[in-house]
Amino acid sequence: MLWEGRFKKEIDSKTNDFNSSIRFDSRMYKEDIKGSIAHSKMLAKQGIIDKEESKKIVDELNKIQEDIENNTLEINKDAEDIHTFIEGELTKRIGSAGKRLHTARSRNDQVALDIRMYLKNDIKEIIKLLKELLSTLIKKAEENLNTVMPGYTHMQRAQPITFAHHLMAYVEMILRDIERLQQTYNRTNVMPLGSCALAGTTYNLDRNYVKDLLGFSEITKNSLDGVSDRDFAIEFISNISIIMMHLSRLSEEIVLWCSWEFKFIELDDAFSTGSSIMPQKKNPDITELVRGKTGRVYGNLMGILTMMKGLPLAYNKDMQEDKEFIFDTSDTVKICITTLIPMINTMNVLKENMRKAALKGFINATDCADYLVRKGIPFRDAYKATGTLVAYAIDNDKTLDELSLDEYRKISDKFDEGIYKAIDLKTCVMKRNVIGGPAPNQVEKRINEIKKSLVDR
Ligand code: ARG
Repeated sequence: MLWEGRFKKEIDSKTNDFNSSIRFDSRMYKEDIKGSIAHSKMLAKQGIIDKEESKKIVDELNKIQEDIENNTLEINKDAEDIHTFIEGELTKRIGSAGKRLHTARSRNDQVALDIRMYLKNDIKEIIKLLKELLSTLIKKAEENLNTVMPGYTHMQRAQPITFAHHLMAYVEMILRDIERLQQTYNRTNVMPLGSCALAGTTYNLDRNYVKDLLGFSEITKNSLDGVSDRDFAIEFISNISIIMMHLSRLSEEIVLWCSWEFKFIELDDAFSTGSSIMPQKKNPDITELVRGKTGRVYGNLMGILTMMKGLPLAYNKDMQEDKEFIFDTSDTVKICITTLIPMINTMNVLKENMRKAALKGFINATDCADYLVRKGIPFRDAYKATGTLVAYAIDNDKTLDELSLDEYRKISDKFDEGIYKAIDLKTCVMKRNVIGGPAPNQVEKRINEIKKSLVDR
């Protein structure tokens, strides 16, 4: 036990299990060791511990890491946490020098440091995965610049777009996701060691030296805040919640697109599942799971926010709960992105079905009204005339392109042969040539901009 001296009895074993975090924090062993090495070097540099002792500590910590990694040292699940375990193991191996490591340090600033280091790595990994997802979506978009499909509002066919344009909407979301993560990275990149338990220390530490050794960009500026701030973790989970929301929306669309009702895409067999009873089934389980796991990440966000909300300064044991929220969030988003990438990469886009869907549903009605506007009719009147045409077409089971010029002219004598070109789906897409619109040249321009910015970053 760490707190020998004050106590006359060993801790009750069930209470120890309840109290301990080693089950989940042992995954931070590398960060813990790296942090201790930097701390020990700084203590020696400042003359707080001996140079030889520091060297012993550093060498043995490196050995402990090797031993954990080649499975010759098993992390003892009875230890209270990873910090206690590593310090205990060090002391077991090198005796009194090991006992000096914790000078001018508390587990409170130690754990704050470890989580920040751990999250910095994870954020980088997640950004890398998001960039891979971006490239996958962009590649699919490039293959579908001219694939006309209906765009929807209220799940009703609304106006013609292209599949590329639709996919690129997700690319925009992911670009913002990356930007948010980069901002959170900067706020995570602050070194808390030296805050100690809560009130700093009387030793003459060189905090900036530790910061440099560990590759942080700043140090925390208030010792109470240094040990009790988890904003960066909350921000992280909040950013990931937004990412999951984006992935979930995409997943929901893929579920719909795979259905017989849409049949816009078909997933590769390797990325779909069957049914144990219905031989005909091919299910988009992956996307359903991504949608489902989104709820679990939101749960982590609510969990950490609620855990933090009533805590007085500074450290409280409640905060030990932060790690499971963080790790689960990180694991979940990584596995979701990793699984989605090859699934999207291999999906078969059924262009003809998209085109057929676009032909039905009067998605060129706005273009018909715009045609009349260009002939000098006020938009509201053009809108009404087109509405009348649509009602007529529905009654006669026709599409707008199937109406004869006579039928058009019964509604307005401004119609002439040009109407057929104006309501042709290709024209409708081409003419939406505003910045941000679905016209293939606009989408292509945006793709090139993004590709260039990804290279420059
Ligand atoms: N296992 C603890 C945590 O994860 C480490 C800090 C413990 N500090 C303390 N004063 N009990 O938060």
